[in-house]
Amino acid sequence: MLTVVKADITTLEVDVIVNAANNSLLGGGGVDGAIHRAAGPELLEECRRLGGCATGDAKVTKGYRLPAKYVIHTVGPVWYGGERGEADLLASCYRRALEVAANVEARSIAFPGISTGVYGYPVDQAAKIAVTTVQEVLPAYPVIEKVVFCCFSDRDRAVYEKLLTKPK
Ligand code: APR
Repeated sequence: MLTVVKADITTLEVDVIVNAANNSLLGGGGVDGAIHRAAGPELLEECRRLGGCATGDAKVTKGYRLPAKYVIHTVGPVWYGGERGEADLLASCYRRALEVAANVEARSIAFPGISTGVYGYPVDQAAKIAVTTVQEVLPAYPVIEKVVFCCFSDRDRAVYEKLLTKPK
């Protein structure tokens, strides 16, 4: 089931929340900063041992003080105008995060708008990639019963809602 909410992702009671991280996995601003603040210092300690993360890839850690059991850190592409394979890299973030979530038998997972903040990816294009990729990949992972697109603004939520109500 795919749903959209407007919320602070660190408050969601799901098995996995996805972090829009950077290649170092050593924290940052935006949702990355919020997740590290809410999870506490053990999250950074575990991240230090992961040796970074390639753009388009995803790695899992525990959730520590978060309601979520796990955090899946993925690194989205920086938007350079769309001619540098950004769409494929963003799709890869969603695909890999779902694969890693299924590996830890997560039944519910929440995604922020990966790359749509500091990394500058246009929300309309990013949301289309997010919804299409999740719809495409989810049937391969029956264990995952619920996917939440967690928006941080009414505008973003409206973009996702339009995509989810569109006839297939
Ligand atoms: N809950 C849900 N969504 C949030 C939250 C939050 N607490 N805080 C921010 N967001 C939203 C932003 O509004 C944006 O829509 O998450 C989306 C992603 O924005 P960023 O966090 O800026 O992530 P991104 O664009 O992928 O840039 C990643 O920013 O924080 C650094 O370390 C991070 O270098 C990396 C870069």
